[in-house]
Amino acid sequence: MKTSSKKIAVLASGNGSNLQAIIDHKTEKFEVALVLSNVKTAFALQRASKANIPAFYVSKTDRDKKIFSHLEKHKIDLVVLAGYLKKVGDNILEDFKVINIHPSLLPKHGGPGMFGINVHQAVIESKEKQSGATVHYVTGVYDEGEIIIQEKVDVLDDDTPESLAKRVLEVEHRIFIEGIELALRGS
Ligand code: GRF
Repeated sequence: MKTSSKKIAVLASGNGSNLQAIIDHKTEKFEVALVLSNVKTAFALQRASKANIPAFYVSKTDRDKKIFSHLEKHKIDLVVLAGYLKKVGDNILEDFKVINIHPSLLPKHGGPGMFGINVHQAVIESKEKQSGATVHYVTGVYDEGEIIIQEKVDVLDDDTPESLAKRVLEVEHRIFIEGIELALRGS
């Protein structure tokens, strides 16, 4: 029996390379039905439009209410944070399953301020031998929800935050798909 494709919404604040990896992954299990951004100029919005996916900028006033109504209207099964730099409101967390990707081996190097290059900088400063990427459920506390999937990346002696970020991002693009499928299995 053919199961129907689940609808995911991707929230992104920036470049959207993770969004692109999700769009490019051809599957009957899920489709990107909606893309939202808190940044008007986010390249992620352009990527979505190019792929003919409904994409909206959500301004600051009542942002979480606006996001909620977009999610309801598009009958979203799973909300995916892909480089989304705002906290998601409790109104959304109460009614939707939300997952996030983080570019370290959580619980290490997560929490407020730990985003983008800061994460890789902290990993190198802590002289970690390994870093990686983590897909996890989102709760009201930054980077603290249950881990869905993790993959390790070796930290090389001559790594800079930028070189490490690049290798971790390649892993992100792969494990995000697996994380989405695992999260959808329970929905
Ligand atoms: C990724 O490293 C992700 O883990 C983090 O922000 C970055 C977003 O990259 N949360 P992109 O916008 O998907 O290219």
